[in-house]
Amino acid sequence: MTDKLIIFDTTLRDGEQSPGASMTKEEKVRIAKALEKLNVDVIEAGFPIASPGDFKAVQAVANVIKDSTVCGLARALDKDINRAAEALKSANSHRIHTFIATSQIHMQMKLKMSPDQVLEQAVRAVKLARQYTDNVEFSPEDAGRSDTDFLCRIIEAVIDAGANTINIPDTVGYNLPDRFGSLIAELLERIPNSDKAIFSVHCHNDLGLAVANSLAAAMNGARQIECTINGLGERAGNASLEEVVMAIKTRHDVFPCHTDLDTTQIINCSHLVSTITGFPVQPNKAIVGANAFAHEAGIHQDGVLKHRQTYEIMRAEDVGLHANRMVLGKHSGRNAFRERLKSLNIELESEEAVNTAFSRFKELADKKHEIFDDDLQAIVSDTLSTKHEQLKLVALKVCSETGEIPHAQITISVDGVENMSAADGSGPVDATFKAIENLIASKTKLLVYSVNNVTDGTDSQGEVGVRLEKNGSIVNGQGADTDIVIASAKAYLNAINKLLQSTERKHPQAAREV
Ligand code: KIV
Ligand code: ZN
Repeated sequence: MTDKLIIFDTTLRDGEQSPGASMTKEEKVRIAKALEKLNVDVIEAGFPIASPGDFKAVQAVANVIKDSTVCGLARALDKDINRAAEALKSANSHRIHTFIATSQIHMQMKLKMSPDQVLEQAVRAVKLARQYTDNVEFSPEDAGRSDTDFLCRIIEAVIDAGANTINIPDTVGYNLPDRFGSLIAELLERIPNSDKAIFSVHCHNDLGLAVANSLAAAMNGARQIECTINGLGERAGNASLEEVVMAIKTRHDVFPCHTDLDTTQIINCSHLVSTITGFPVQPNKAIVGANAFAHEAGIHQDGVLKHRQTYEIMRAEDVGLHANRMVLGKHSGRNAFRERLKSLNIELESEEAVNTAFSRFKELADKKHEIFDDDLQAIVSDTLSTKHEQLKLVALKVCSETGEIPHAQITISVDGVENMSAADGSGPVDATFKAIENLIASKTKLLVYSVNNVTDGTDSQGEVGVRLEKNGSIVNGQGADTDIVIASAKAYLNAINKLLQSTERKHPQAAREV
């Protein structure tokens, strides 16, 4: 039997640091439940001091998650640690993750502190965290560019102070697998009390090496990997959970460790995170891309039919690909609907939300006779995202005809009052967005517009993602409908609603006192 590799998911924290990927409390709870079903060991739910909303989201995740450890991030500051402990106190099992930068450039230019001051603050933070929990993780931020002698010194001191997980972040994705693997081996070898802690890694993907670096670390003694669903995260993202986990499962012949994940939940988590954040998954993305298990070339199809291992190293069902079966239809009743949501780990908070989702399901079933799990996820996303919205789509009429200028007429309710507007555009979507802008004059810039089919077939719902920017704030909006122009209007309004609700948040890696 090999060692267990702890899977620490940070989709809800580092993943949320992707521009525009911020999630509501309800969305975080939904993803956390899916991660728990996937059996991840630790869920980093957020950075509680960032804002009251972040605090409440971590608290909500701590309240509902029973099987995974819930973790909160805190800079090495008393106020951050106290806040994290407060947010996590209802969790069955919780961890405080505290960090401070240790590279010369970060200490000098960002923190304006000497190495000794950094070491002293790290030790103090770990000791304070230990007063709240015996599960404390310490990260020397930018370890990948830190002096190894200093790393040895600070890590030894924080282990003595009570840290039992030591995470080595390659914060800026600068490392190469060979070098990063040997850094882990060297730290384990040189730090006298390294056997008192689990060594972890947290790799960013700036050079596209986050997964390779994480796997090299696992080969050299790391027993926790921090990763995110779909590789979401700051800038180019973090190591992708699905790639790490499937590499270790598929190449169990070479890895000295294994994970306890239920990999059949991977596709479900991937779709959910993509729907909620509005970050589509590229078709050729390993493990979860639409083409990851598709065999286009005739010679490959022939080979797979004769013996699937000719061209397949993993089975699609092992990542949950064929689990998305037809589940409900036009004649399914409320109980069947509720049961199916339950099996997807979706619990709508009120009877009113169940009723809204159920009537959306009935509307959809009238247009599309096979309703799949992904359709249900899209319906629930739509129901939750529109619940507290100031601007709601009431009606949309679009005329689009060859040789004619497309025209849209829209009715939107603004805080309960209905307003109508119309506009021409270069296409039906352009006309719709212009009609919305005529009414609300949001003065936002459209950065991204994408449409994806939720399921196969031309009767599929289209899921539209819209990314808007205003004064440096970036938000993503989503909308789903079998009519993609209606889905586009919903997505645009969803993004505007998020901008209206967005509040100031602290960024964990900004300067020392923010
Ligand atoms: O990338 C990083 O260094 C981080 C730390 C807070 C662990 O996200
Ligand atoms: Zn990070």
